[in-house]
Amino acid sequence: MAGRNLVIAVDGPAASGKGTLARRLAAHYGLPYLDTGLLYRMVARAMLDAGQKLEDAQAAEATAAGFDETGFDEAGLRGREIGEAASVVAAIPGVRRALIDRQRHFAAAPGGAVLDGRDIGTVICPQATVKLFVTATPEVRAARRHKELAGRGDTASFEGILADIRRRDARDSGRGDAPLKAAEDAILLDTSALGVDEAFAAALSIVEKRRAA
Ligand code: CDP
Repeated sequence: MAGRNLVIAVDGPAASGKGTLARRLAAHYGLPYLDTGLLYRMVARAMLDAGQKLEDAQAAEATAAGFDETGFDEAGLRGREIGEAASVVAAIPGVRRALIDRQRHFAAAPGGAVLDGRDIGTVICPQATVKLFVTATPEVRAARRHKELAGRGDTASFEGILADIRRRDARDSGRGDAPLKAAEDAILLDTSALGVDEAFAAALSIVEKRRAA
């Protein structure tokens, strides 16, 4: 594997720690990083701003095919209700189809790239050098999201966030098109009992083993 493009696919459920891990892996290897969840969040944001219904598949598909990624401010994308709205539009097959090229184009950067999401290892980059599937228990993920949102002034309760996470897990895993699931050749990394540095060390060792293979 050494000398070839290094494409790292990082998938997993909401607040599993995949974004932090993917960002750190990208910095470590000097690779570009794409948070693909942001694309679904942008589609949802653009639809809500235009007064469209999230379930309107035709409008959602047209939005996904035509939006400009530079037109959003990140604070307006990271909120709790946009995560929920993103998971509604992400279940529409035409939306997923419309976003494939942007993601594959990014993954084809010279040298490689790191992408995180739900279907990177299964659909977007089935040939990735290494695939990580990052998990943690719903309670641990809710506690992490609670802390993250509190840091941004959101007063949502732990119980409310846990209910959000369970609902989103069910929707993301249950949809017919590109459901959240580990690729057959993905390596599972359960971060429930790991701090950020420990999780990064574990991920790095998985990637290095794969590169040396
Ligand atoms: O950070 P968090 O995991 O809460 O959310 P995210 O990664 O920004 O994703 C928001 C929603 O977009 C998810 O619940 C998925 O429904 C959807 N998504 C997807 O379907 N496929 C991806 N590659 C990334 C996100």
